[in-house]
Amino acid sequence: MQALNDIPVLDDLDAPKQVAVTSSGKRNVYLETYGCQMNVSDSEIVASVLRENGYGLTHDESEADIVLINTCAIRENAEQKVRRRLDELRSRKKRHNPDLRLGVLGCMAERLRHRLLEEEKLVDLVVGPDAYRDLPNLLSQAHDSGQAAVNVQLSREETYDDISPVRYDSNGVSAFVSIMRGCDNMCSFCVVPFTRGRERSRSATSILDECSRLVDEGFREVTVLGQNVNSYAADGVGFAELLYRISQISPELRIRYSTSHPKDCSDELLHVHAERENVCNYIHLPVQHGNTAMLERMRRTYTRDEYLSLVERARLIVPGVSLSTDIIAGFCDETEEEHRDTLSLMEAVRYDHAYMFMYSERPTTYAARKYEDNVPEEVKKRRLTEIIQLQSQISLGSNQAEIGCEHVVLVEGTSRRSDAQLAGRTDSNKMVVFDRGDYEKGQYVRVRITDCTSATLIGEPV
Ligand code: 5AD
Ligand code: SF4
Repeated sequence: MQALNDIPVLDDLDAPKQVAVTSSGKRNVYLETYGCQMNVSDSEIVASVLRENGYGLTHDESEADIVLINTCAIRENAEQKVRRRLDELRSRKKRHNPDLRLGVLGCMAERLRHRLLEEEKLVDLVVGPDAYRDLPNLLSQAHDSGQAAVNVQLSREETYDDISPVRYDSNGVSAFVSIMRGCDNMCSFCVVPFTRGRERSRSATSILDECSRLVDEGFREVTVLGQNVNSYAADGVGFAELLYRISQISPELRIRYSTSHPKDCSDELLHVHAERENVCNYIHLPVQHGNTAMLERMRRTYTRDEYLSLVERARLIVPGVSLSTDIIAGFCDETEEEHRDTLSLMEAVRYDHAYMFMYSERPTTYAARKYEDNVPEEVKKRRLTEIIQLQSQISLGSNQAEIGCEHVVLVEGTSRRSDAQLAGRTDSNKMVVFDRGDYEKGQYVRVRITDCTSATLIGEPV
């Protein structure tokens, strides 16, 4: 998940988010979410399925009859964090509450069902990302029979199209709307195609209905989500067309998306950014690496030069567009020279923001089968540090260039540091903090930038 106020490094994506809606039913569920925005969105679907079936949802872990952990498998340290959490919960169950039921949902469920259930006997319930409709059944089974309940079947169709997510952790301003699931790209380092299965897209009508409802409920921003969001295609509607249609719902609604692949960043999509005022001036364009041979080993389907031309085209068609990226340091066989190509690409593009990771080998992936994870840990760390330091400088430079400029900020809430200040993002996805005055969450406020750090802009309303 993306921290809003910091330059994100590896762990930002893995921080847990817990909460739930009010208690209303027989058994209380405490739901804790790790990993990406898609998991946050999935937990909102899980909350909806549970609520519809008479379960209560609680914020208080000690009130729970059932604890569900929605998990992430993208890097080893994300899995370790979940395992430590499961150990803690299991010992609490043993000591204080033998009736407590523990469940693992999401990407780790898919990957580790046998170990979780049999070898380690850690949990009572294992539910993969396409099996959430089956949760009430599985929960009854786990409770009534005391037997472990499992469904990790992946689907070629499931999009949870008809389920209205319960946005229990929402700020009431920004919402996630899931529009496609799965990934067919098979980048060699990535476990997602194995944990989440094949690509499938939700119908445009139901997405547009959901966005309209969100506007009626007072939401002012949607982030449409998918593992490979810009390969969206359903009923003859492609991603660019879908964004265009969402943007027509209301000029008051900002539209963002995550996470995209450069191969699907078409001119048509860039023109939608340029033409539609409320489609944000921001594109997340994960490059992963700056060297063509490495990109080939990563199976990214573009070269360094092709990527750089795409950036050029994006900046030509969408003047002033803000760009962010994902970068992996220390992938198999990476030489010092190849690493320097990543640094030089970062200098060439000058991203506003980057999510930076150390390569973590994932079992079953192409890289795990065909290549050796042979860059020593200290070298990976040092390369990642160089990447992070460079991005920090670039982000600071890009923020300093904003001083004196004006932006329209959508207020998301109070600033983390002080209740006397509000925080929100610019169209270009930069976080701005300014004095509260009479402004409120959900308002658009024109702000002049007066100062900055590498992570945050500081402004005053004009
Ligand atoms: N090791 C490190 N980072 C990874 N990512 C995906 N798989 C791995 C891995 N095995 C990163 C990529 C991707 C982001 C979501 O996570 O940069 O874009
Ligand atoms: Fe993983 Fe590549 Fe698919 Fe992204 S596009 S989810 S990195 S396989």
